Parts: sequence; C-alpha cells; structure tokens
Amino acid sequence: MTDLEKQLLDALEQAEQMLADAANNADVEACRIQFIGRKGVLPALMKKMGDVAPEDRPAAGKTLNRVKQGITQALESREAELRSVVADDEAIDVTLPGRRRTIGSIHPVARVMDDAVAIFRRMGFVVADGPDLETVHNNFDALNTPADHPSRDVQDTFYLEDGRLLRTQTSPVQIRVMESQPPPVRIVCPGRCYRRDTPDATHSMNFHQIEGLYVDRNVSLADLKGVLSEFARELMGPDVKVRFRPHFFPFTEPSIEYDFSCIMCEGKGCSVCKNSGWLEISGAGMVDPNVFRNVGYDPEVWTGYAFGMGIERIAMIRHAINDIRLLYENDVRFLAQF
Ligand code: PHE
Repeated sequence: MTDLEKQLLDALEQAEQMLADAANNADVEACRIQFIGRKGVLPALMKKMGDVAPEDRPAAGKTLNRVKQGITQALESREAELRSVVADDEAIDVTLPGRRRTIGSIHPVARVMDDAVAIFRRMGFVVADGPDLETVHNNFDALNTPADHPSRDVQDTFYLEDGRLLRTQTSPVQIRVMESQPPPVRIVCPGRCYRRDTPDATHSMNFHQIEGLYVDRNVSLADLKGVLSEFARELMGPDVKVRFRPHFFPFTEPSIEYDFSCIMCEGKGCSVCKNSGWLEISGAGMVDPNVFRNVGYDPEVWTGYAFGMGIERIAMIRHAINDIRLLYENDVRFLAQF
C-alpha cells in the first residue's frame, strides 16, 4: 500500500470520528469543509496522485474514490440522524386535542358540613370532636337508651369483638363533652356515623351527622325552635318553612322531629318530598334529666336542648340527588358537577 493510500484511509477514519462526535449541523458542515471542501484534505491528497508510480495508480485511484464516497455518505447519514432527533423534540401535532386540567371540587357532603358548621359557629356554637369507635356507655347507656332498645341490636349496630362499637349517631359526643366540662355547654359536632343498614337509595352504612347541644339555665323548647328555624333559613334561603312534629328519643324529653318545606316544589308536592311538601331533616328535643344525671349535671339547675341531623339528606335535597349511593361512588362525572 502506498503512503497516499494510507493517508486517504486515515482521512476517512478521522472524518468518521469527527462526525460521530458532531452534535449539530454546524459540526457536520465543519467536517465537510475540512475534508471535501475546496481547500480540504481530500483535494490536497488528490493533487498527490501525480507523484504516485504509474503501476500503483489504479489501486490508489480506487482507494481515493472509496474514501471520497465513504466521507460523503458519512456526512449524509449523520445529517439525517441529527435531523430526526431535532424533529422528535420539536414536533408539535397541532391537531391533537389539548390536555385538560381537571380542577377538583368540594364534595357535596363536605360542603353541607362546612356550611352547617359555619352557621352554627356564627350563632356561638363551638366545634367538638369525638372518635368513630365508641363505648356502649357513650353511644347508648349514658344517653338513657333502654337495654332492650332496638337500635342496640347487632342487626343495627356494628360491634367490635372487644365490646366497643362504631357510633350509630354523633350523640355520644354530647356525653364526652358533658363528662369533661361543667355547664354551660354550646357545641356542635360534625362526624361520621355507622349503621348496619342494607344500602339502597336512602340508606348507607356510613353517613354523616351534625350534632348540637346547648346547656344553660332556663333553656326552653322555644330556643331550640328558634335556632333550628334560623339555621334552616341560613342554609336553604329565606323562604324555607320549618315544621316541628312530636317524636321520641331516649335522650330527649320532649322530643321532636323537624322538617323543611320542600325546596324543589316549594311545598306543592313532588318526587323529592314524596308529595308531602316536607322533607324530614332532624331529630331534636330537650335534654332528658336522666342524661344530665348520668354525666353529673344537676337537672334541677340545668336545662338544655340537643339536635342531630343527617348531612347526606340535606346534600341530596340541596342538589336534587335521588340516590345516596351516588355520594359514595366517587364517579368524577358526578362529583365534577358541584
Ligand atoms: N341521634 C338521633 C338520631 O341519630 C338524633 C337526635 C340528636 C335526636 C339529638 C335528639 C337529639 O336519630
């Protein structure tokens, strides 16, 4: 092999190395100029062909062509490679639909809860808290619930093996608060409750209540009615009517249930209110003297009222939701409406 051929093959190797290192089009262009440009390496070597002995010339000529072709091809393929990298990075398909940012919303149950707490706090109630796992004492005994009351049945209440239970109502928080502080008391307690119900359009094993308890001297049923009526107006609007009906709870005497006039039909009767014009909201009443005795309050001195209402019911009425299960399925198409 002649010197010239060696130099040609070296040049090819160098050019290939330079292209492998090329990061962009400018690097490729620099390589082209250095090797096959007018004043480049190859034209200079070509000029040396005349010095090669005639018998070596055919071989040297072949090598020259091979090297020239090799460099040209290497330049082209590196250029194409770089082009495709850039294209991948910069390509924007303007026909693709945009990426939607989904914005979360407050769950309707949480919203009613927040609103109810805000209204009662404005009236001077303080938020109290209690655990979901309760004792039989707090959930039933201290609330004056007779030993044979049906709500204690395992068919209605979830019991743990250790004898505790999942609270069936927020009323045990009344006991917790009264056992831990002297009167007067003015609390609301929002929270989860559990009952062993078969789920259907109006029943869920897990639901929410907000409890209220007011204890002071000379508290009357009229105070209770006033607070619940004002609450109704603030929550549902000024036109809502409130109706009180006699009822029974072990821990209040007298006991009442209270209804809102149906906001869907304004009392005329529709499917939401089952044509009655009224929607059942809450149980309430004057704290039974036995409950005061159980927590060590003197019933001769202290009087009070208590109420507890189902939050899901209010959310359903507010948004005309006809199945409580929708509130727990977490279907975003449903939740995004609120
Ligand atoms: N705890 C009762 C229930 O779950 C509601 C209630 C609360 C009634 C307070 C009277 C007083 O049905």
